[in-house]
Amino acid sequence: MSAPRGEFSSRFGFLMAASGSAVGLGNIWGFPTNAASNGGAAFLFTYLILAFALAYPALMAELIIGRHAKANAVTALRGLSTSPASRALGTTVGFAGMITVSFILSFYAIVSGWMMAYMLAAGADIVGANALSSWLQTPGLTRDSLFTVVFMMLTIAVVVAGVKHGIEKWASRLMPSLVVILVALIAYVMTLDGAMDGLRLYLVPDFSRVADTGLLLSAMGQAFFSLSLGVGTMLIYGSYISKRENLPALGGMVTLLDIAIAVTAGLLILPAMMVALNNGIQIYDDQGGLVAGPGLIIAVLPALFEQMGGAGMLVALAFFVLMTIASLTSSISMLEVPLSYLVETRSVSRRKAGVVLGAGIAVISLIIVFNFNVLFDLVVSLTTEYSQPLLGFFFAIFAGWIWNRNGILTEIKQGCEGAEYGLFWRIWPFYIRFICPLAILAVYVQMLFA
Ligand code: PFF
Repeated sequence: MSAPRGEFSSRFGFLMAASGSAVGLGNIWGFPTNAASNGGAAFLFTYLILAFALAYPALMAELIIGRHAKANAVTALRGLSTSPASRALGTTVGFAGMITVSFILSFYAIVSGWMMAYMLAAGADIVGANALSSWLQTPGLTRDSLFTVVFMMLTIAVVVAGVKHGIEKWASRLMPSLVVILVALIAYVMTLDGAMDGLRLYLVPDFSRVADTGLLLSAMGQAFFSLSLGVGTMLIYGSYISKRENLPALGGMVTLLDIAIAVTAGLLILPAMMVALNNGIQIYDDQGGLVAGPGLIIAVLPALFEQMGGAGMLVALAFFVLMTIASLTSSISMLEVPLSYLVETRSVSRRKAGVVLGAGIAVISLIIVFNFNVLFDLVVSLTTEYSQPLLGFFFAIFAGWIWNRNGILTEIKQGCEGAEYGLFWRIWPFYIRFICPLAILAVYVQMLFA
């Protein structure tokens, strides 16, 4: 072991870091468009149930394992193991998580790079640098490579500064700013014609869709991606929580914050899309679905901002600052996963580990940038649809079947006295043993055979 481990200095710091990891591109464009395409408030309703009934227990498994082990995912899972077979499984799951999260970061950095480019484009518009602005808004290998690398450098800079002085400090500054910008943007968009149609699309439930398997799968996938589960991110953040903190309560707050921001983002994105429709911008794709994902953020919304004239530049700036903040607080949590492994098991300094890993992941990003049509969707789908749920399944197996109940209870009782009599302990062990693995398996099997 090398230098002493970092720890979050306060409950607020942990909450900002963990909710910063959870709140990302997935909340701001994933959740609202998923909801609009899947029965509006019917999706919201299903999502809320799944988030609390499945994602929260899975999040708790990672936080509890992490704080117990006070170590990276590989060491933590191996430490819980009781036989050579479970040790081997622990090593495999820990490594698979690190590889998956590195690939997630590789595509996340590309999209985040676009967000930075659009943010600077809005700034350039404001000062009248029109040529620069149009270059920044035109997709191209040079622009995309440049901003992917710049975004990775920012991520590395925050992470190598340490848990307290990098991750916690920046998340604590950026997350409150994100909330303020989000609320201000909603207030503005609500004043525009068409916004109320967006609210209707979002908030009026089409309950005939609740039992739809497509809706269930989307809601579950969204919940797992949104809470950053399965890849060891929450485990490593859990390992930096002090033994004095009440874990079930902290995990509940992170879940609530994540849901609250996703739901709030819907109040911005769907009204904005309907305002765009009202202004003659195309918001449905060839199949009749709402334009989602990158298309929404880099086609529909910029077209809308452009039509807003002078105010549009400020709105665009605020929106892309929001997106960049959401991306950065997530990307730092991703890099921390492999970094903590290298630092703790190979005695490498944070700086060296951060630079080497960040450079390696940036190279993968560049390979994707140069082969975008072949690789981008493939990497997104392999990591988030296949790998994340499968790894989530194994985390549930570790917490539900491999680690013994007494060990878990002892861990929870630190910071939460009398936990054995509380609601959490009455429900969670059953959930993590049976409900979570079976539900994840059901989603996974559906995905494979869909
Ligand atoms: N939760 C992030 C989002 O909603 O955009 C994505 C994410 C972050 C996934 C960290 C995985 C991860 F480890």
